[in-house]
Amino acid sequence: MTVEIVDVPVPERWDDDSEGARLLRAWIDVRNRVSEHEWGGDTSHALSYREAWSQWRAAVAERETIRTLALVDGEPAGRGLAERSLLEAQTVAEIDALVLPQHRRRGVARALVDQLLGRMRAQGVTTFQAWVDHRPAPGPRLAAPTGFGEVPAGSPEVRMLLAYGFAIEQIERMSELHLATAGPALAEHLAEAERHAVGYRLETWTGATPPEHRDGLAALQARMSTDAPAAGLDHEAEAWDAARLLRYEESELQGGRTMLWATAFDETTAAAVAFTTLVSSDNPRVWYQHNTLVHGEHRGHRLGMLVKAANLRALLALEPDAIVRTWNAEENRPMLRVNEALGFAAICSAGAWQLQETP
Ligand SMILES: CC(C)(COP(=O)(O)OP(=O)(O)OC[C@H]1O[C@@H](n2cnc3c(N)ncnc32)[C@H](O)[C@@H]1OP(=O)(O)O)[C@@H](O)C(=O)NCCC(=O)NCCS
Repeated sequence: MTVEIVDVPVPERWDDDSEGARLLRAWIDVRNRVSEHEWGGDTSHALSYREAWSQWRAAVAERETIRTLALVDGEPAGRGLAERSLLEAQTVAEIDALVLPQHRRRGVARALVDQLLGRMRAQGVTTFQAWVDHRPAPGPRLAAPTGFGEVPAGSPEVRMLLAYGFAIEQIERMSELHLATAGPALAEHLAEAERHAVGYRLETWTGATPPEHRDGLAALQARMSTDAPAAGLDHEAEAWDAARLLRYEESELQGGRTMLWATAFDETTAAAVAFTTLVSSDNPRVWYQHNTLVHGEHRGHRLGMLVKAANLRALLALEPDAIVRTWNAEENRPMLRVNEALGFAAICSAGAWQLQETP
């Protein structure tokens, strides 16, 4: 058996016969086949070639990304990913390895991970982070140091991460909401939130943020990097301005995605004080609940429920059968309370792991 690792660069196109397009499709095929296997045959977590390609292209200026494909006797067997921001926290990289079920336990992941770690170390990276799905399994458990959540301790991915010296820092809950069942209660949730949210005005829009709101939304977006619970994970405050917001929105909207915004404004100052976003995927039914934030000085007025219920109502009009997926830190009780009330139910635990090396 020979294992060869090749780089997968961002191709000019994803859909032609070029070597680059072929590699992109092979890389995504590995990702989707592993995902289908891990989700017990559910293909709705797949990423389309087009979606992947437009995301890859959009990230080129702001992120350094290494994508690799492991070939066993010439056939794709696994894929590697390492990524770091070029804007902030440049010494922190995210790392991920996936191996097709029939090629496991032959050192493929080790070959991928060793190379990714080495190449990122050469760029000055000293902290590695990995977000890993953990499915229920019997046996010993590993608890997060936050005190919220635990994962099965004996799975291949946990054994591998521990063997590399990673420690679990935080557990996120991945949950899902089915609009067909949750939809009818949204109007009542919205009305209830509106009764408490006195002195605030709600606005929703589709696509890029209107120019007059960009500065305010950029300022709120920046707070996501400091206000969302990060447990012991290394991170840095992000600087956002209107131009960065526009770049982020374009990266989401490229490749045909739709983005729904709901924002609450303080009626006295006209400042944007809370927002939430929903983003579509190439599967018309599958949507992702992205960022939600209520400014620290405006909490306790049900603004989180207000913006989320309003945005889900906008989605209901567009795609009444939508499934909405989201991730929240298990210790983020205020956000989970809103999501649980709306009908989100847990489908998986995601562990945030970290390996800190001394420079
Ligand atoms: C985790 C995963 C990547 C391992 O791939 P793999 O090619 O089988 O892993 P390797 O053969 O290179 O083994 C690497 C190390 O993982 C650990 N490991 C992997 N599978 C194991 C198992 N079934 N039992 C015990 N340890 C295991 C061992 O420490 C092993 O090192 P060793 O053989 O020197 O003892 C693979 O199971 C997978 O793709 N899982 C789903 C996706 C995922 O969770 N990825 C992890 C993201 S970081």
